[in-house]
Amino acid sequence: MTLPSEQDGRAGDELARSLLDSGALTPEWAETFRAVPRALFLPDLVWSYDMATGRSVPVSRAEDPQAWERSAYANVPLVTQWDDGRHTGVEPGAVPTSSASMPSVVAAMLRDLDMTEGMRVLEIGTGTGWNAGLLAHRLGGSGVVSVEIDPSVTKQARDALKRAGLSPEVVNVDGRHGWPEGAPYDRVIATVGVRAIPPAWLEQTRPGGIILAPWGTHHSDQDALVRLTMADDGSARGPFLRMVEFMKLRAQRLDWNRFARHIPEFPGDADVSSTRVTLAELGDRYESVRFVIGLCVSDCAHVVNRSDEESGKAWFFDLASRSWAAVEFHSGKPDATVYQSGSRSLWDEVERALRWWTDHGEPSLDRFGVTVRPDGSVHPWFEAPENGLTIG
Ligand SMILES: C[S@@+](CC[C@H](N)C(=O)[O-])C[C@H]1O[C@@H](n2cnc3c(N)ncnc32)[C@H](O)[C@@H]1O
Repeated sequence: MTLPSEQDGRAGDELARSLLDSGALTPEWAETFRAVPRALFLPDLVWSYDMATGRSVPVSRAEDPQAWERSAYANVPLVTQWDDGRHTGVEPGAVPTSSASMPSVVAAMLRDLDMTEGMRVLEIGTGTGWNAGLLAHRLGGSGVVSVEIDPSVTKQARDALKRAGLSPEVVNVDGRHGWPEGAPYDRVIATVGVRAIPPAWLEQTRPGGIILAPWGTHHSDQDALVRLTMADDGSARGPFLRMVEFMKLRAQRLDWNRFARHIPEFPGDADVSSTRVTLAELGDRYESVRFVIGLCVSDCAHVVNRSDEESGKAWFFDLASRSWAAVEFHSGKPDATVYQSGSRSLWDEVERALRWWTDHGEPSLDRFGVTVRPDGSVHPWFEAPENGLTIG
């Protein structure tokens, strides 16, 4: 086993202390966090991802070892692969496809798994192998299986785990199928965002077991962490915990470029009306209102092109037909112009969802949840599974 260097130890201690202070890290995971240093799992070139701006900055161990070391123990996500490995070079690629997740997110997800000794865990999305290493340190290697779709990422994770002296089972397969050979699991943790919960995950989790996954609709790239408990009838249900954003499961990525071809001519034959809803009311990244609109308005993707705080154009695209809507917001003008085209009046649906949300006192995300049936279909609810979310 490679022991943490003195410098690793100090930086790791500092990170653990700050995560303990914030409550993300619980005392039972603190020793594991110190013993399994994140730096051991990182390649020599990483991209530090700025959550506020969405920009990625390359950090090379060879060129600036101290900056690399600082990044390893900073509470930021580090991209480790672009474009499924097709991109090379120092500059960021188009789509980040593997990473070492943000330490506070990793710690809080381990806390939310609520694990005890002897449990069996399946992780979907091995990535660098750091999280699999943390799990294996706490539970012992024989209790942990981690699956990764990318062969070269799998190899790097296996090598890093070996260096760290940890031996979870790491399998190079598509995580949509889980890993039936190791089932049943007490816990399934996805460290990759999903748009549909694969039925295999339900089949492979024991009744009473927990599935923790970043789930979302195609409304935006945001995910909310959902904590599902398996019922005896093969379904699972549970509440959302908080907003997160993960790279998406390979087969469930939305190709946002397709919307460039969605509207042949603007405004074409669209119906034109107006609204008093403001751009701010539609919510920003990580605001629950935006996520709740996605829960209420099914199969609808949206993009906002902002000019400033109050002005810009919001686009809404039906995923199943050519229906679309666009709303132009102008700073200082109370009325925004609405264009709607196709069989669905998408903006009317969005406005109804917004009205429902304000009429219910702007409820926070943790008051919503989902039931996932054995076939994988997802049914959102408000406050309790009996209160299905259907906004008329
Ligand atoms: C955010 S990273 C995981 C971080 C990781 N747990 C860690 O500790 O570093 C997401 C990973 O999921 C992998 N992934 C994407 N689609 C997948 C799939 N269908 N099955 C398994 N892994 C997948 C990606 O290749 C990527 O490595």
